[in-house]
Amino acid sequence: MQKFIRSAIVPVAGLGTRLLPATKSQPKEMLPVARKPVVQYVAEELVANGIEQILFVTGRGKTSIENHFDHDPELARLLAASNKHELLEQLSAVELNAKFFYTRQRLQRGLGDAVLCGEHFAGEEPFVVALGDSIIGLNAASQAVSRMAELFQARHASCVLAVEEVPPEETVHYGIIEAAESEGDVFRVANLVEKPAPGQAPSNLAIAGRYVFSPLIFDMIRRVQPDSRGEIQLTDAIQLMCEEGRRVLALKLPPGEKRYDIGNFGSYFATFVEFALADPEYGPGLRETLERLLAQTANRA
Ligand code: G1P
Repeated sequence: MQKFIRSAIVPVAGLGTRLLPATKSQPKEMLPVARKPVVQYVAEELVANGIEQILFVTGRGKTSIENHFDHDPELARLLAASNKHELLEQLSAVELNAKFFYTRQRLQRGLGDAVLCGEHFAGEEPFVVALGDSIIGLNAASQAVSRMAELFQARHASCVLAVEEVPPEETVHYGIIEAAESEGDVFRVANLVEKPAPGQAPSNLAIAGRYVFSPLIFDMIRRVQPDSRGEIQLTDAIQLMCEEGRRVLALKLPPGEKRYDIGNFGSYFATFVEFALADPEYGPGLRETLERLLAQTANRA
């Protein structure tokens, strides 16, 4: 586990329109994946990678995220009085050994603007950005952020991105990198483009929701012009770093630490099923149920 970077910014202000109506009155980051809400996995991954303080950049309608990480004395008293010690332990694990901070992005002005809300929190130190709707690795078991931080330090980088391969027709959903050179699973990034149309993408390597930045990124974000929807894209700020000749690197996530995207129903459903199947108590029963259901559909077809 790396010890070099202590702070992480987790943007959770997005409206979650791709998950309506589930997200009408609750944040997409609070949707459960098997036993825990998405944002719990994200925080656990960060703490397991040496992060000591987390800033959530929230927005209207996101207060349940703060409540989730807060201590609830009434619930704790109730569980203690009814001898539910196992549940109590699980609840205190939720609170995690980290400091939590919250700030609000007042207007929906894009991911770059959300990260800029963390400028004072990050100070002069390098920091991690972890998107609140992406889990890395089954049950968030991933050391990718530690490896990215080590790479950042060893190679004097200004930015290290996690990337993953996506099918060519899906590049339109992601920031895509153009690599200048590569060494194993590490790429030197020459250019980036946000959500390129099919046929326009420079590669199929997509930014996968984890970044390590030097504080230099804040100046770059300030220089970015809003896109056609009025949003300040983080990808455009990283592109400015490339144009200035700063070292921007990408680390490909290993197959065992793939990214689970909760931002749309297709991958949310798949993620829920995979995590539930891995549940020690309910996984085996669910497997039987799924096999039975699949056999029924096969018979009907
Ligand atoms: C954001 C980033 C994009 C990145 C993606 C990963 O897009 O802008 O570069 O690839 O997250 O999930 P969003 O999903 O917020 O549209």
